[in-house]
Amino acid sequence: APISAWPGDLAILKSEIPRQEGFELSIVIPTFNERENIVPLIERLRAALVGIAWEVIFVDDDSSDKTVDVVRSLSLTDRRIRGIRRIHRRGLAGACLEGILSTSAPIVAVMDADLQHDETRLVAMLAMMRSNRTDLVVATRYGGEGSSSEGFTGVRQVGSQMAIRIARRLLRIETSDPMSGFFMVKRALIDELAPKLSQQGFKILLDIIASSPVPLKIGEISYVFRPRIHGESKLDALVVFEYLGLLVAKWSGDIISSRMLLFGLVGLSGVVVHLTILRLLLLGGLEFPVSQAAAMLAAVVSNYTFNNALTYRDRRRRGVRFLTGLMLFSAFCSIGVLAGTGVSSLFYSREPQWWLAGLAGAVIGAGWNYITSSMITWRR
Ligand code: GDD
Ligand code: MN
Repeated sequence: APISAWPGDLAILKSEIPRQEGFELSIVIPTFNERENIVPLIERLRAALVGIAWEVIFVDDDSSDKTVDVVRSLSLTDRRIRGIRRIHRRGLAGACLEGILSTSAPIVAVMDADLQHDETRLVAMLAMMRSNRTDLVVATRYGGEGSSSEGFTGVRQVGSQMAIRIARRLLRIETSDPMSGFFMVKRALIDELAPKLSQQGFKILLDIIASSPVPLKIGEISYVFRPRIHGESKLDALVVFEYLGLLVAKWSGDIISSRMLLFGLVGLSGVVVHLTILRLLLLGGLEFPVSQAAAMLAAVVSNYTFNNALTYRDRRRRGVRFLTGLMLFSAFCSIGVLAGTGVSSLFYSREPQWWLAGLAGAVIGAGWNYITSSMITWRR
């Protein structure tokens, strides 16, 4: 169709274009430092996908091990292989999205580069997509013959299952593995949803399902999650936090902002500041009430600064208002400090445990802090 739309004097080129088949299936593979895995992965894809018109698109976030160079050297002799190099960007979801939007194949699969996903299941997934009874096929570790115990440590397994349970509860998502990084989908669906999808973190599948205006027809194929041999996992605390943030936001219908989450986190950081300073001052030989009051004040200033920059950044107090805000905040908090010091000193006199007493004081301070901050210091 695009060829017939060319201006007349270019129409001659039409006959010079050799007839070639398009790709039915495009496999999009996000990579970040996966150099060692590329060649074995391509070999496995070639073996698994005989008879299928497939291509593979690697989307690399400028890996320091030059993963994309390996991809490019392979693509010189096999035009089914393509590499996209992104710079100054990080994000599994965004990389997948970019790969999906760069292909014309009607069906796309997303899969990890590290050989943890069983590429032989692609054939069954494609058959299910071809049957046209599904918009999306999830390769699951938690249904049928699937399993995750080989590829995950005990902690990751428990964490993964908890994340899934929360997702299904909160968002009523009807798939056994909404956290899967291995799935197949109609490209047209992603074209439609793309503007709504988040670029951050690992939660692309969950995001696709949760963002679709109509319930999707979801199929499942089980597989055994393999252990990683080369390289290491990129799932870290930030990825987990982003996941929780998405769940809370979607669950509340995007009403509960991340403000509460942030306030809690800032509060926790304040506890760390508080306890650290308290411990140091006590070790330095200061009296307990003095140490406690100083530690609380330090936590107050630190909390004010972080809350102003993060939690209430949309109502941020600058210049003189920053200072008056700090005065307001500390004024309210000094009442909290008094109460907190009282409570923790009482605690300490009965049970001389620095951390228990300090914690009791911090909890009193934090509660007071929250109420006065939201209602007075950063009121709209
Ligand atoms: N381009 C790009 N950018 N790729 C990335 C990034 C990034 O910031 N972070 C990770 N990747 C790539 C990795 O190179 C790998 O190919 C794939 O994404 C998965 O990353 P891993 O770091 O191996 O993830 P995992 O094995 O810990 O997590 C698996 O299980 C999760 C659910 O428990 C993956 O399948 C996840 O997709 C899945 O959510
Ligand atoms: Mn992995």
